[in-house]
Amino acid sequence: MYEVIQVVHSYLAYIVLALLFFAVANAIMGLAGNKMFTMEKDFRLSLFTLILAHIQLLVGLILYFISPSGLQAIQALGMGGLNSASRLLAVEHPFINIIAIVLITVGWSRHKKFMEGNKKFKSIAIFYGLGLILILSRIPWSKWLG
Ligand code: HEM
Repeated sequence: MYEVIQVVHSYLAYIVLALLFFAVANAIMGLAGNKMFTMEKDFRLSLFTLILAHIQLLVGLILYFISPSGLQAIQALGMGGLNSASRLLAVEHPFINIIAIVLITVGWSRHKKFMEGNKKFKSIAIFYGLGLILILSRIPWSKWLG
């Protein structure tokens, strides 16, 4: 069970990061080019990114409770006993990613309140962009790609 969830979380990470990157790039281009915010492309891309980020959040939460690198590491070693690599997995990565997904959700909700395309693009660009930066700042790169 743990291995399956860990593999799902690991592969879903590629999809979520790629979608976030496209959604932010698309919003910046829409803003810069003063484009119309379309239902077919811009709405769908932003929504699909939001949904997959939320699925990753749920998978991450499950992983947090069953992985030896999650809650169990804190229970075994205590907060003070974690080294920087184990603190990244057990504390920083989960905490920062939850904040990132809250920001992405705020960006999505805010964009719906606006009528003007440029305000919609701006909301997505800023909040999804901040979320992406936070996520990238706390990926366990060497464990993931190493
Ligand atoms: C968009 C958000 C997230 C992304 C892109 C992401 C990505 C990743 C990646 C790439 C890894 C390394 C996987 C590997 O070693 O193959 C990982 C591990 C982990 N993630 Fe996330 N994650 C996200 C959110 C979360 C959240 C919200 C939690 C918990 C609340 C979480 C908990 C964990 C845990 C506990 C591990 C260590 C798993 C293990 O090696 O046993 N993640 N994550």
